[in-house]
Amino acid sequence: MQNNQPSAVSRRSFMRHLAGAGAGLTLARLGQAAEPAAKGKYMTGFAAPKLERVRVGFIGVGARGSGHVNQMMTLEGVDVIAICDNHPPTLARSIANVVKKGRPKPTEYGNGAEDYKRMLERKDIDIVIIATPWEWHARMCIDAMKAGKHAFTEVPAALTVEECWQLVDVSEQTGKHCMMLENCCYGREELFCLNIVRQGLLGDLLHAEAAYVHELRGQMNEVAHGTGSWRTFHYAKRNGNLYPTHGLGPVAQYLGINRGDRFDYMSAVASPALGRALFAKAKFPPDHQWNQIKQWNCGDMVTTIIKTALGRSLMVQWDETSPRPYSRHNLIQGTKGTFAGYPNRLACEGLTPKTHEWTEDAKLEEIMKKYEHPLFVKMGELAKKGGGHGGMDWLMLWRVVTCLREGQPLDQDVYDAAAWSVIGPLSEKSIANRSASMDVPDFTRGRWKTTPPFGIVT
Ligand SMILES: NC(=O)c1ccc[n+]([C@@H]2O[C@H](COP(=O)([O-])OP(=O)(O)OC[C@H]3O[C@@H](n4cnc5c(N)ncnc54)[C@H](O)[C@@H]3O)[C@@H](O)[C@H]2O)c1
Repeated sequence: MQNNQPSAVSRRSFMRHLAGAGAGLTLARLGQAAEPAAKGKYMTGFAAPKLERVRVGFIGVGARGSGHVNQMMTLEGVDVIAICDNHPPTLARSIANVVKKGRPKPTEYGNGAEDYKRMLERKDIDIVIIATPWEWHARMCIDAMKAGKHAFTEVPAALTVEECWQLVDVSEQTGKHCMMLENCCYGREELFCLNIVRQGLLGDLLHAEAAYVHELRGQMNEVAHGTGSWRTFHYAKRNGNLYPTHGLGPVAQYLGINRGDRFDYMSAVASPALGRALFAKAKFPPDHQWNQIKQWNCGDMVTTIIKTALGRSLMVQWDETSPRPYSRHNLIQGTKGTFAGYPNRLACEGLTPKTHEWTEDAKLEEIMKKYEHPLFVKMGELAKKGGGHGGMDWLMLWRVVTCLREGQPLDQDVYDAAAWSVIGPLSEKSIANRSASMDVPDFTRGRWKTTPPFGIVT
């Protein structure tokens, strides 16, 4: 069941925000006249015709994609039709895994980097799940949609501003879904935050903090194949918030980005780039390819700040290099209270004993149970069994398949994919220009003003 309508409280607050925005912003700024004209259908709220069964083709079945194959096989009404990977042992492993589960053998496509296009010619595939290296995501999504398939891509959806616009244009032109698989929107805490925000319990939203702080230096041990074999070159060549969406996606949903508010402008700053070179020196011989990289460009810690059209502020951090405990920050602050993650903490008028001290642990757990998101109430236990980052991966795929089979709009659309991903290339431009302020494109072309916030879905 789906209820994309905001609650009465959040609808009132949404209208009040819009009134406030009108007073505070010039029409020229709101209009963002520079946006290119729409190419087709507005895709927020778009529901494709119901699919009785969801017939899937996978592109890229390495560390991440192989998990998607496994989880999709646990969902009712899913057929694994074809698998593409240009690394023969990886492709063979995935095909064998499907057969081992008693399923028909999927057709394999492994004849080079462009063989996915042959898979896309098939008429018996409805959706394509893409889990290849970053530089392939946008073009594979575009080719999939042009071939009449709904496209689902791993994060980030695109690496340049131009690619973000292409995704939007092609999704609108073809009337095909283009969803970035931001699994972190399906964590228990994130769903709880969305629920209390939509109920108005944090008041009017002011500020958010998001991050992907995850020590992943060990991926550099994957030299010939695997994540480190391609991701390491991004740290070497680029300097920006290269992986912005895990923390950002959920807080963007709380704030109603593209749906009542939008990212307006941003700037970024990077720390020195030291950790990768140190790791290479410590772990690999002097003539190793990682030690042949003369300059590592990407700052170990990159911090971006964003201002929204309604005047809210956001901080987004990214660090996959430093020895530092994992965090997505997940902080959302309003006029009545603040939730922060890692560890979970809440201070909220009417909910917690004090507002100048955090409520944590058992008392917070009580509050979280009381205001649990209905989707987590219904599916939380099954999601934990389904697994994948504590169950959020499975829950995301369950929502995707359920929406497609029921002919419902998806929880994330192409404008989300573009707005959340574009922070990457814009942060690179900002850092290269002494943290210059960058305008964030309005991928909705003004429709954010009349689109209600993403509601409470079950
Ligand atoms: N959402 C999450 O929690 C999460 C977690 C891990 C990875 N990811 C994302 O998933 C994606 C894949 O990452 P990974 O860690 O699985 O990397 P990986 O290197 O293990 O897997 C990528 C696979 O794509 C294949 N490939 C590369 N180019 C191809 C082409 N042109 N055609 C067909 N196959 C091709 C490779 O052979 C490899 O098997 C990345 O975007 C990564 O950021 C997301």
